[in-house]
Amino acid sequence: MNRPHKRDTSIACIKDLEVAAAHKLNKNVREYYNQGAMDLITLHDNVAAYDRYRFRPRVLKSLANLSTSTICFGKDVTFPLGISPTAMQGLAHPDGELATSRAASAFGINMCLSTYSNTPADQVIAQSSGTNAYAHQLSIMKDYALNMAIIHRAEEAGYKAIFLTIDCPYLGRRLNETYNDFELPPHLSLPNLPPSDGNMLVRDSRIEYDDHLDWEGIKRFRESTSCEIWLKGILTAEDALLAVEAGVDGIIVSNHGGRQLDGALSTLDALPEVVEAVNGRIPVHLDGGIRRGSDIFKAIALGAKYVWIGRPVLWGLAYNGQAGVELALQLLYDEFRLCQALCGCTSIEEISPRHLARLHTDGRYRPLS
Ligand code: FNR
Ligand code: LAC
Repeated sequence: MNRPHKRDTSIACIKDLEVAAAHKLNKNVREYYNQGAMDLITLHDNVAAYDRYRFRPRVLKSLANLSTSTICFGKDVTFPLGISPTAMQGLAHPDGELATSRAASAFGINMCLSTYSNTPADQVIAQSSGTNAYAHQLSIMKDYALNMAIIHRAEEAGYKAIFLTIDCPYLGRRLNETYNDFELPPHLSLPNLPPSDGNMLVRDSRIEYDDHLDWEGIKRFRESTSCEIWLKGILTAEDALLAVEAGVDGIIVSNHGGRQLDGALSTLDALPEVVEAVNGRIPVHLDGGIRRGSDIFKAIALGAKYVWIGRPVLWGLAYNGQAGVELALQLLYDEFRLCQALCGCTSIEEISPRHLARLHTDGRYRPLS
């Protein structure tokens, strides 16, 4: 019988890691990482949405050749999970984004770097031993020379894709940041951006978000780089269709981890309408609320080709640097593989909506298709 190899017996799941990280972080950072916009309705619903589905496991399928791997950004990755861009990882651990990158490479999964990285983009990708691919997130600023400089630096350093964050023409209202007067500590910098006073980034007029950007603007980004262009922050069929028309390479169904519009749909609830609208023309990915390997399975069953995690990586990083991030990935991998096996799927391609059921108004759980 296969037993997972755990390096730390006190941490058996991501919830344990969240608790362990909470002891390592001061209140300001913990709340900046863990909370979101306003009343945290979307933040909590992102997690709760997974529990609205049940599995329809298939039995007596030989699992001799079970494979969890898939292709993403040209790399044969260990399983369909990547690391979402999260700002200022130096707040979690002195090694910051370097540790995250080493863990991603060691595990053979992809990573997206935030515009608000505390480490230069070329150093982050240099940690890779070639086993994984990298994307660079862009928070779109009013200063287009700055946007283009970030894109071109990423392109030169070998990043495969640019994730344009399109749910952020203005920063959401995060109450914790007001109560805590959240600031970047003086020992950290944001090497992607012009030097600022560290006060919540967008108050600096040089790096205000571009609130004029529209679909024409997306086409201009498309023409400005040889990197793939992905849109991060789509939640509706309407915008998914416009994204296909704009010629982007892919979509990430995301609500910024519940940090932008509180009350917006959870990402798992938004996923089916986006998948249906796109109809296979471009890949659809998802992030938000994934805390178990079985959550990854559910998102794949609903049509995501690949999913990404934000906070679980920050918790791993805070707990124990690179080893902590690897622990987070190992837990999610072990849970995902087991879930895939118990559902009787020998490959990622076999995972389908038929493996899920949802409660109907007549009180019965029914398969999705
Ligand atoms: C984020 N996220 C984010 N997104 C982005 O496009 N650029 C960024 O700089 C950041 N920064 C950031 C900081 C922190 C502390 C968090 C928690 C999140 C959003 C992130 O990419 C992703 O969409 C969510 O984190 C996914 O939700 P989960 O996995 O954290 O539930
Ligand atoms: C955040 C920004 C930086 O979510 O995207 O905190």
